[in-house]
Amino acid sequence: MLNYRFREGVHVDSGENAVVITSPYATRLNSIQQCLKIEDPSDSLMSLLHDLSAKGVNRAQFCINDDALSAIADQQELFDELEVFYAKGLLFVEISGCKGAAICLDPVKPLLNRKTVPIGDYRIRFSRFVHVQPRLDGLQITTPLAVATVLLKDQRLFPILMQLVSSCDRKTFQDALPDDLRGHHEDVVSLLLSSGVAGVCDGEGVVDIDKEAVDAGWTPEDLAFHCHTREQMIDVCRDQSLPKPVNQQRFSAKHQRIVLSTVALPEPSHIHHNLSFFQVVRERKTIRSFHEQPVTAGVLSDFLWYSMHIREEILCDPGLSRAYSGLLRPVASAGALHSIELYLCIHRCIGLQPGFYNYDSLNHSLGKLSDLGEPCLQMLDLAAASTCRAPQAASVSPGQGQRPDVLVVMAARYGRHASLHQHTGLSYALILKDVGSIYQQLYLVATALGLAPCGLSFGSSELFEQASGLSGRLECSVGEFMIGNPASTHGFDPGAAVVA
Ligand SMILES: Cc1cc2nc3c(=O)[nH]c(=O)nc-3n(C[C@H](O)[C@H](O)[C@H](O)COP(=O)(O)O)c2cc1C
Repeated sequence: MLNYRFREGVHVDSGENAVVITSPYATRLNSIQQCLKIEDPSDSLMSLLHDLSAKGVNRAQFCINDDALSAIADQQELFDELEVFYAKGLLFVEISGCKGAAICLDPVKPLLNRKTVPIGDYRIRFSRFVHVQPRLDGLQITTPLAVATVLLKDQRLFPILMQLVSSCDRKTFQDALPDDLRGHHEDVVSLLLSSGVAGVCDGEGVVDIDKEAVDAGWTPEDLAFHCHTREQMIDVCRDQSLPKPVNQQRFSAKHQRIVLSTVALPEPSHIHHNLSFFQVVRERKTIRSFHEQPVTAGVLSDFLWYSMHIREEILCDPGLSRAYSGLLRPVASAGALHSIELYLCIHRCIGLQPGFYNYDSLNHSLGKLSDLGEPCLQMLDLAAASTCRAPQAASVSPGQGQRPDVLVVMAARYGRHASLHQHTGLSYALILKDVGSIYQQLYLVATALGLAPCGLSFGSSELFEQASGLSGRLECSVGEFMIGNPASTHGFDPGAAVVA
């Protein structure tokens, strides 16, 4: 038996001459739920809407028999409406056997395309991006690209999971179904294909729905992250399962760490600014080989000041209930949240002791957290090792990556982003965008100061946790950048650097 009913979050409001069906879908930016308005609904449509909101409607009700022509026309109109509801992701579909509900389709997007069983011989299998989650009422199957989740409620259907892991032909699939559901074989296949968790295989066993993602080399993790953070329409019912809201007060804009000692930085100077902005942009490049003459505290001070110092604390979205404090810095940050802090592994710097420091961007000073211990040395070595893997590492031969004078580690306070973006689901995506913004700022400022800059792809949150003594859930490292003085081949004049 195949049954339709409105999915969770669908509401029907009937007015005098029209009925409005509110869907559970809204855009991420604007939480107004999409609606469907039907003018002058017939009595039979009203009764259909009532049934769909209550006990559900059996598909058999719509099988056209040899009634009078007018009755057939009426049935057809209802059938067409049902298809509209289905396509708009409003209908929960349930196939039942002798043990009750067996397999269900629960839409998550307002864009369903009913797929029927392919004609002739076919092979079907799960998308390779599928994941299965146990729930109290069964196993939930979904993929980032699917338009609906599938719920296996009847345990006798669990063996089809194994069948659909590899490509499975009609007969094998049919045989895997319990006797009472075998007659519904076509409905079950249609439900799996329509949801997007399974597809029809090509000769190489790749399912049609995966082809482009597989050809482009998408990993399941990246595809899930991308779909989750870039889809415009969201299911507002999903929000109800969010963890408890994050307390904004706990993640203030200005962040101060407990430190062993505070080290003042020289006043930021203006003497390095002899390149115009456009020259800086033209000359910006990655330099991976460093001069034996270390950087000075003065240049490091300028580097930090022109990249990250706090200019001002501001109130964002004043007047709205979500008003929060933000920061202005030379670098841009989504929502002025500036949840990223800089930590420095200072290996060599004239005027500063080697050690692990936090940049206090409010007071423009360094807070010493520890000497240059084992985790810091390992972070410096990891930086040197990842230098060699760069595509344009002509300046260093493999195996000879140098430890930078200073390794800058960017660490994000996830909670600060979550305090504003938990419901949009964009926290981590925006953190990574902020990291990109900081990379470019560090590149440009380093270039203007005549430093050798190099952004890095590889970093270790474990090493950062050990060095900082902070739980990665509170502050997690999300980017690394190294600086030193450029090797002589890049026209560096050590005499000028010491004066500066
Ligand atoms: C996000 C990011 C990650 C990078 N990762 C590395 C890296 O791990 N190792 C490295 O030597 N260079 C790295 N680079 C530098 C790039 O390889 C470099 O920008 C690219 O080769 C182009 O050269 P250019 O910066 O001189 O224009 C990175 C740059 C960015 C922006």
